[in-house]
Amino acid sequence: MSKVEWKPGNMLYPLPAVMVSCGDIDGEHNIITVAWTGTINSEPPMCYISVRPERHSYKMIQEQGSFVINLTTTKLAEATDWCGVRSGKNYNKFKEMKLTAVPAKHIKAPMIGESPVSIECKVTQVIPLGSHDMFIAEVLAVHADEHLIDKKTGALDLRQTDPISYIHGSYYEPGSKIGRFGYSVKKKKST
Ligand SMILES: Cc1cc2nc3c(=O)[nH]c(=O)nc-3n(C[C@H](O)[C@H](O)[C@H](O)COP(=O)(O)O)c2cc1C
Repeated sequence: MSKVEWKPGNMLYPLPAVMVSCGDIDGEHNIITVAWTGTINSEPPMCYISVRPERHSYKMIQEQGSFVINLTTTKLAEATDWCGVRSGKNYNKFKEMKLTAVPAKHIKAPMIGESPVSIECKVTQVIPLGSHDMFIAEVLAVHADEHLIDKKTGALDLRQTDPISYIHGSYYEPGSKIGRFGYSVKKKKST
């Protein structure tokens, strides 16, 4: 199979498109949509977001040293896009998108009530990379909608949330499950 060389760029797929809430719930706060985000460590749990310094949210994240990553769903897709093309300089994004600012437990930044999973993050390092600064953060707490938790087993079923993914400029709904971790090496049941 032959391949064509493409100019260097960000080609990883799929990406999450998350809504990052920041600032102070009792003061100025905002939401910025971020796709440059990911998990970077297991113990302690750590993640990152990369944000351009010219974003309105940048200063709030820098000053508070914290932010909340709110996972997005098909229901939240429009708000996710809107918060990524409008600036908090000109709009109150919570109000415009009819989203609820809910107090977090460990940090001043609000969580988004309508998001099924909100992850409280404390910045531990800021690395300027070029266009973006990378905020490396420790996860202080994860808040999940109670309806996602199986009452009997206590297991968290994130599949119920209809998570969206972001691939090369477009948003996608979830497809169907094709396997679970390690399924490739599990013994196939004989029929
Ligand atoms: C799907 C999507 C992903 C985005 N990812 C990032 C990102 O990773 N980093 C960033 O700085 N801006 C990103 N943006 C752009 C910001 O969300 C956008 O400039 C927003 O208006 C900034 O809001 P603010 O000025 O209120 O901070 C993204 C936008 C969209 C729609």
